[in-house]
Order: sequence, then structure tokens, then C-alpha cells
Amino acid sequence: MIAAIPILPPRIDRGWLGNLPPTLEWDGDETGFLRLLDQTVLPERVAFRDCRTAEDVWDAIKRLQVRGAPAIGVAAAYGLCLGTRAASAASNDALAAEIRRVAEYLCACRPTAVNLAWAVRRVAQAGTQKGRAAREAWLAMLRAAHALAAEDADVCRRIGEAGARLVPDGGGVLTHCNAGALATVAYGTALSVLYAAHAQGKRFRVFADETRPLLQGARLTAYELQAAGLDVTVLCDGAAASLLASGQVQMVIVGADRIAANGDTANKIGTYGLALAARAHEVPFYVAAPRSTFDLSIRSGAEIRIEERAASEVGVIGDREIVPKGVSCWNPAFDVTPSPLIAGFVTESGVLQPVPGHGFGEIFDPRGLK
Ligand code: MRU
Repeated sequence: MIAAIPILPPRIDRGWLGNLPPTLEWDGDETGFLRLLDQTVLPERVAFRDCRTAEDVWDAIKRLQVRGAPAIGVAAAYGLCLGTRAASAASNDALAAEIRRVAEYLCACRPTAVNLAWAVRRVAQAGTQKGRAAREAWLAMLRAAHALAAEDADVCRRIGEAGARLVPDGGGVLTHCNAGALATVAYGTALSVLYAAHAQGKRFRVFADETRPLLQGARLTAYELQAAGLDVTVLCDGAAASLLASGQVQMVIVGADRIAANGDTANKIGTYGLALAARAHEVPFYVAAPRSTFDLSIRSGAEIRIEERAASEVGVIGDREIVPKGVSCWNPAFDVTPSPLIAGFVTESGVLQPVPGHGFGEIFDPRGLK
């Protein structure tokens, strides 16, 4: 009898990232599990969460142990594999029903980032092609999830290479939230541009907004830039306009959770205000994102569903209540920056601009769906 060849995860190149731990990795062969770096405890501790069920993955995404649009997409892709593994021992019909159920469950976890549904759909499609036994179909899903992980790292590296020329040598760059290696399988989007420029020998200072309420800028962006040897300074979100007015910043670059056909962009709450301040001070404002973040099925940002998160994220810091009892808190996780405020979109295919009044749909389809 010939032994089956085990299906192993891809080896990911992490060249620019110093000793930063991986955001997520499949551990083992087809009997393995998903290991996530628990981002809620950074930078104090480096801890991991092992996910063996779709429920584990859903919970880790909800709590933001794994976060960032591309990373939650890849995590959910593996979550779909975990949640349907048992059904692969049954019939094709049973597997197909389970794929539908688990895919819907995972996609409902966080609504704003389009990458989540996009990645889940890709893995689901790999498992629902006709003419294969259920076990073969499930193995095809795991291979598809591994391919997504490898592709994400590759695409992010290409985003960095495409955008590096925009980074001012000797100047300052401001970013918001975390659109780095921790938000993807490796390298990130906005931060990949900075890693690539740094690798080319450019020297510049990075300013990271702390990004209330959950401090992804202070905790995560500062952590990973420091690990990679870049010069990083953290500021309160409210200091960003003054920093732009001071002339220390020549470029703003952020990531994205969903980009509509007209270029309107959803990203972490506070991005819109930053774009307005950048425009007022004539500093170019760039968005870096893979093509999988473009959602050409929606015409404008008005159609993007913004996730609202628990009031306690605003009202409580650590174990301290910072808002008086009885006062309510509003906690949208994202906002929408109108396309005219964006100087360009750094993608793996180069730096793109929407055509005013037409958006992207008239000139190309970033996901190759047409
Ligand atoms: O709530 P989060 O931490 O998942 O929000 C993340 C962001 O807004 C990122 O900027 C975006 O997902 C792009 S990540 C490359």
C-alpha cells in the first residue's frame, strides 16, 4: 500500500520582519490545527491560541486575538477547514451542507472587512466541485487555505515593493491602526511599503497613532516596527493634526477593510479624520491594500456595513471604568474615507487611482472577476 503524502503548510518567507512571531500558522498535516499569535496581550506577552474548531476561530476573530482584514480572511479559511473536517468522513452531501453552515457562521463574525467572506468563499468553492469523494474534497479545501496563506504573504510583499518609491527618504510617515505583518500572514500592507523602503536603504521616521479604543497602533504597529528595526514614535490620536501641521510628515499611509468601486475606503475608526487633516495640510494620503479588499459589488462607501463593538471597549481601560456609570459610549470600529481624499491605492498590481466620477469599475476589475 502506498502511504498518502501529507498536506503540509507553505513555508513563508519573513525576510523584513526581524524576530517578529508569525501572526498565524497551520501546525502539522491534515490532522493539524491553527495556531494564532494572541494579539490582545501584546506587547506585554507573546502568547498563542490554538484553534481546533470553527468555534475557536470565530471566538478568536471576535475577540481580536487575530485581526486585520487579510489575517481574519486566512484565519476564517482555516476555520472552515476545521469546522468541516469531521463531515469529510461522511457523504458529499453532508460535507456540502456543513460547508454552507460553517461558512455562513464564520462570515457573520465581523462584517466590515470583505476579505473574510472572500477567503471563506474561495475555500468553500474548492470543497464543492463535483465528482470527488468527500475526503478528497476536504483535502482540496485545506490545500486552498494553504494557498491563500502563501498568496497573502506574496501579495503583501509585492504591495511593499510597489509603494516603496512613495516613501520620503529622510522624512516622516504617519500611519493609523495596524496594517502590518500582524494584520496579514506576513509583511502587511501599509507597513509593507515601509519595510520595503527601509530594505532599499531609505531612512525615515514612522509616527504611529495609538488608535483608540483598542490601541492597535501603540501596541501592535510600534511592536512590529521596533522588531524590524524601524524608527517608530507613538502619538495620541488627537495629536495627529498637530503633527501634520508641524511639517514633520510628508506621507500618510493606512490599510483598508473594504474599498468600494468608487474608491471610498473603510478602515479603522479615526482614518477619515486623519485623511481630512492630511488634505488640510497638503500631505498625500495613501491606502495600501490587496486586490481582495476591493468590493466592486458596491458603488460607494455608503453601502459598507460598519461593525459596532461593545461600549466597554471605550468605557473601560484594563480594570478601570473611565466613563461615569450611566453614560453611554458609541463604538464604531471603522469609518469611511471618501475617495477624493485619497492620493492613490498601493496594490500588488501597482499604485492605482480611481477615475473621478467613474471609480475603478470602468478601468479594471481588481479581483479579475469580470
Ligand atoms: O479592528 P481591526 O484591528 O481588525 O482593524 C484593522 C484595520 O482597520 C486595518 O487597518 C485593516 O484591516 C487593514 S490590515 C492590512
